[in-house]
Amino acid sequence: MRIYCEKDYDAMSRRAAAVIASEIIHRPDCVLGLATGSSPEGTYRYLVEWTKQNLLSFRQVRSVNLDEYKGLEPTHDQSYRYFMQSHLFDHVDILPENTRVPDGLTADPAAHCAGYDAYIRSLGYVDLQLLGIGRNGHIGFNEPGDCFVKETHVVDLAESTIDANARFFATRDDVPKQAISMGIGAIMGAKKVLLVASGAEKADAILGTVCGPISPRCPGSILQLHPNVVLVCDEAAGSKLKAAGAAVCG
Ligand code: GLP
Repeated sequence: MRIYCEKDYDAMSRRAAAVIASEIIHRPDCVLGLATGSSPEGTYRYLVEWTKQNLLSFRQVRSVNLDEYKGLEPTHDQSYRYFMQSHLFDHVDILPENTRVPDGLTADPAAHCAGYDAYIRSLGYVDLQLLGIGRNGHIGFNEPGDCFVKETHVVDLAESTIDANARFFATRDDVPKQAISMGIGAIMGAKKVLLVASGAEKADAILGTVCGPISPRCPGSILQLHPNVVLVCDEAAGSKLKAAGAAVCG
């Protein structure tokens, strides 16, 4: 795992955006696995800026998103489809038909999840998977549990995740209790993984991911088994790494 510890959120975002831009420039028709949340927002801002400056084009890029809340319409301002449209897709030249986000309103979740995995396989898996991380170590919405779930699946959100995400909704009761998430199989099948994390509240999750035992109790820890992971964090999120002996580049 290559670890960059940047001085703040903006530097983290710029570094992460540069990793993605490099992928697109080297492979214009790459498949990007995309993430939502406050962690990648700044990364998307840089990608939009560079696209507007004609330094980058998403014209041939295909994307698959990690997850979506169950029960939210794509037009709901807290749905992950809405997030992707407003933070990236509406501002770059990606073709709408080349973007996929799980359908939170599907009438047949099992068939939808199987179809999502089949689509990822048909693309030859993801070239670069962008990930944030939950305070409890979740990646996508793969919550801590007794085992890693390989396939795209319906997830019961952890109480701590509902608490963490309540800040985006009018009340805690408005936070969906379930989501559809890409499984660990598709994430680990990506050729390269880019994990971004910022803020002191992520420090334990990052420590567990990089140095902890590989365990479904901290889903991010599975990334220790992936051959090509870049972690870009800010100083606060990475604050426990050096003391634990992790080799940090920047
Ligand atoms: C959310 C998403 C994850 C995201 C994580 C952290 O619940 N499902 O994909 O990485 O939690 O979010 P944030 O970056 O806002 O802290």
